[in-house]
Amino acid sequence: MDFGRKQKTSRLQLREISPDEARRVCRFVLQIAGISLNSSKNRFLETRLNPLLEKYGIPDYWSLLTEAKADASGVMAQDIIDAVATNETRFFRDAGPFELFQYKIIPYLTANRLPDSTGKIPIRIWSAACSTGQEVYSLAMCLKESLSNLRNYKITLLGSDISQRALDRAKEGVYSKFETARGLDEARLKKFFTPEGNAYRIRAEIREMVSFKSVNLLEPVNGFKEWDLILCRNVAIYFRQDHRKWLFNQLANALEPDGFLVAGASESLAAMCSRFIPKMFSSCTYYQRRF
Ligand SMILES: C[S@@+](CC[C@H](N)C(=O)[O-])C[C@H]1O[C@@H](n2cnc3c(N)ncnc32)[C@H](O)[C@@H]1O
Repeated sequence: MDFGRKQKTSRLQLREISPDEARRVCRFVLQIAGISLNSSKNRFLETRLNPLLEKYGIPDYWSLLTEAKADASGVMAQDIIDAVATNETRFFRDAGPFELFQYKIIPYLTANRLPDSTGKIPIRIWSAACSTGQEVYSLAMCLKESLSNLRNYKITLLGSDISQRALDRAKEGVYSKFETARGLDEARLKKFFTPEGNAYRIRAEIREMVSFKSVNLLEPVNGFKEWDLILCRNVAIYFRQDHRKWLFNQLANALEPDGFLVAGASESLAAMCSRFIPKMFSSCTYYQRRF
């Protein structure tokens, strides 16, 4: 097969983006979502945004931006964010945070949290930037495996993301064989999923433990507080330094005083937020607030 020729043909089908259009798209995405794109990556922008030109019957990227800004419903802006956001994720990604959760955080919370007026022990966990749901469902599976009597607990397990498309998939809870093979062993696949055609659906008992919400992490999350654990992994890498600082400061406010924060494996808070102390469990770094 002549791969060179095939690539050339599909390249021709993409509407080219001019440097001015690329800069304008990047400014727009930065303003709305804080995602810092490289405006010289024309091919990336063309591949991600070309389907929107076709969807809306718009001739060029400049007009796409103009219409998105004028669209009071916000749907076009959401489509642009959905198109450029990187939703890469997988079940039990990096293993370390889930061992930390299972062997340190769950035992700590069950021993230190008091029952509320209903007699149940509240545990509040937020997967901020949960993408298509694998991270938050992995936490639900850990809870199911670790707590023999879930009825004694009032578990709040929230997955949030800016991408509506990712959240819709998360809510559906259906994953391809490729997606389930990334991170799930046979035992968990059998225990927590049912086959559905060529894919697997997460079982209702896990699905029902989790709720999903659209949250832009660069906007104030008023009312989001008293979380026992926040996972905010592999999203700040797409932000500018000033936005990262703002985000982790906001997450510090949202945690219980002895709550836990887990960032991505390559994201250190060292120079970013002096309100956190880094700690280690096995090979996993986590953060707690300074008193
Ligand atoms: C690479 S995924 C990380 C998913 C998961 N946390 C993990 O580590 O596997 C990054 C996610 O951040 C989301 N995102 C980007 N900017 C955001 C923002 N301003 N607010 C909330 N979510 C955002 C994207 O939509 C995407 O789903």
